[in-house]
Amino acid sequence: MVKTGPDLQPLPDAQGVAQAAADRIAARVQDNPELTVLVATGLTPMATYAELARRVRAGELDMGGVTAVQLDEYWQPGEGALHGDDPRSLWGWMQRSFVEPLGVRRTIRFGDSSDPLEVCARYDAAVQAAGGIDLAVLGLGPNGHLGFNEPPSPAHSGTRRIDLSTESLASNAVYWHQAVPPQALTTGMATILSARAALLLVTGAHKRAVLDRVLNGPQTPEVPASLLRTVGTVILADEAALGSGAPVGEP
Ligand code: PGA
Repeated sequence: MVKTGPDLQPLPDAQGVAQAAADRIAARVQDNPELTVLVATGLTPMATYAELARRVRAGELDMGGVTAVQLDEYWQPGEGALHGDDPRSLWGWMQRSFVEPLGVRRTIRFGDSSDPLEVCARYDAAVQAAGGIDLAVLGLGPNGHLGFNEPPSPAHSGTRRIDLSTESLASNAVYWHQAVPPQALTTGMATILSARAALLLVTGAHKRAVLDRVLNGPQTPEVPASLLRTVGTVILADEAALGSGAPVGEP
């Protein structure tokens, strides 16, 4: 596939982003029922996954042939990746929001081991054996991270264990109203940037400043999502994030 610069699709609100993202994902699955999809958790893509699940339940879409690839997972130093039954596990969240409701049968995840190098090597080998990522579905961290590629993360960075930034620890603690481990495993920028296509979903006025840096600032490892501007990326953003709606605080 020929890669071009990013394509920005402005939408009125978060529901519009979810509909547009679901349309694009469904179209790709219809073209290739065995699509390999890198799956973000976080709050942003939940409405998109709910819309896909609705289409699956209605018999409009079959995602049974898709391979879903985990993007990241918390890592407890001295223990390893969180188990899926830990309420804070991102694998558990991905299962509940994507794998189960969409009827996905094939998955690639970070396995259980206390050796991060081994876990990451096995993960990379599985992604490679699947033929790489066809579609990356991504959210945007408040600090510009993708997955847990915290700033600075250069384009060549591989799948690895990483120390979480203060911003990520704070924003992620909100998901469960409790602290998250200080480290994580993340798919590297190299894998994300080699995806054949990427959808970056951005909603809410709290993302306005970072989205501006992603769209208009320099392409830099300091804002890892800015590096997506070199690949076949579609950015789906609502008015609140784009700043084209009413200024924050106004009705
Ligand atoms: P959010 O998280 O979708 O919950 O805003 C995005 C991220 O931190 O990567």
